[in-house]
Amino acid sequence: MLDCPERLKWVIQSRRQFLAAGASLGAASFLGGLHGPKSARGQSPVPPNRFTSQGGLLDAVLEARQDLGQLAGRPANIFSFNGQVPGPVLELHAGDTVRLRHSNRLEEPTNLHYHGLHVAPGGFADNVFLEIPPGETVQYEFPVPAKHPGGTFFYHSHVHGYTARQLAAGMAGFLIVRGDLDEIPEVAAATEHLLMLKDYGIRPDRSVGPGPLLTVSGQVNPTLTLPQDGMLRLRILNASVDLYFRIRLEDHPLYLIATDGGGIPEPLEVAELLVAPAQRFEVLVRGERPPGSYRLLYSPYASVIGDMSDMPGMGGQPSQTPVALATVVYSGRESRPLPLPARLVPVAPLPQAGVLRTFEFRTQELPGGFVFQINGRAFDHHRVDTSVLLDAVEDWEVVNVDRMDHPFHLHTNSFQILGPDGQPERAWRDMMNVPGVTRRRFRVRFEDFEGRMPYHCHRVFHGDLGMMGVLEIIRILPPRSRTAASRQQ
Ligand code: CU
Ligand code: CU
Ligand code: CU
Repeated sequence: MLDCPERLKWVIQSRRQFLAAGASLGAASFLGGLHGPKSARGQSPVPPNRFTSQGGLLDAVLEARQDLGQLAGRPANIFSFNGQVPGPVLELHAGDTVRLRHSNRLEEPTNLHYHGLHVAPGGFADNVFLEIPPGETVQYEFPVPAKHPGGTFFYHSHVHGYTARQLAAGMAGFLIVRGDLDEIPEVAAATEHLLMLKDYGIRPDRSVGPGPLLTVSGQVNPTLTLPQDGMLRLRILNASVDLYFRIRLEDHPLYLIATDGGGIPEPLEVAELLVAPAQRFEVLVRGERPPGSYRLLYSPYASVIGDMSDMPGMGGQPSQTPVALATVVYSGRESRPLPLPARLVPVAPLPQAGVLRTFEFRTQELPGGFVFQINGRAFDHHRVDTSVLLDAVEDWEVVNVDRMDHPFHLHTNSFQILGPDGQPERAWRDMMNVPGVTRRRFRVRFEDFEGRMPYHCHRVFHGDLGMMGVLEIIRILPPRSRTAASRQQ
């Protein structure tokens, strides 16, 4: 059922080991300060922690590395991009070209996935079927469409069987596309912070995986300063492999302005957010309370029904009580209050779909271990599971028969989740969390790009263990062009 048990061995180990190993981690330590051999010896300059596009080109160099570094003051074998945790920020504008030289200094294959980007799924673009062997370098190069929405995206590796291991041990970075949302004056006036929510644990052999240490962009409980009457723009990403973050800011509402795929039509006031693995939200925070310190709190979320701690990648939550992820501290005062924007980015509802497809997510315990399946099959990259036509609009229903949540992810095209009334939400997503023993639908249009790409559960242990399928988007040539094409052959 699984073609490569050796590469999955790491995945299958119980999360309990991490919990035991990480129990003594200090509370107020700094994850950063990871210096690989090169920078420590001064042989090459320390790479920048942000690559920004210039003149329409984002020219960046990423090195996948494994170094003995420091995690919360303890030696840990960290996987990283360029020796940095989180990886460098890639920042570009809609319409820019991305050129990325990616070297693999790991002892196992790796590659890059640009999570949430609407770009070509093949060639040297967002091609997760391309594997970079150890010691090799690949140059990715692709245009980002001029109409691409501005938003908060991220990159991580995506080689089947290694995705969870590499992401859990530190390999993830923000990818920011500047666009429509950034041009709204009230949004542009806010002070921006990138918040990568991620849990870590160190095992006795110093390998790093999920665990009890909750971090925000590599730091434990960092401070964010906010002037009274000022405004923060928080770009929130859950880069954990399994953990859900339920978050709220003490005494402050959050004003939601963007979901996974970009801006929403107008700010939406929310008291808290549930951030599933790989989900992103952007929120505004107003300095509208008396000066003081306010904690951004993590609260546990029951993403399993009952005890499933023996499942791969699962286990107890890091904490059953609220934990301060970060602290907002008031400092200074704006001369006049920064207003909330009235309007953001229009989201037109997708038209009625012509097709409804159903995907059943099911986990089974077989004599050889657990197998994670979609519609009764585990992932096989040689097999196309679903074929669709370019430009078609379809409804997809994810039926989760398990007693745990599965966060569904589709590559290449964002979608609109359908509400209980069957109407599409005015928001673009590439993640849809499906709680245990429920079903949910979304509507999607397969735009611009032909080719093959996966859809899968983004509790990436589940994906690595088979909960992934292959979608192929096909262009049917009209009869005249078909004749012309065959004449050219
Ligand atoms: Cu992803
Ligand atoms: Cu899952
Ligand atoms: Cu994926």
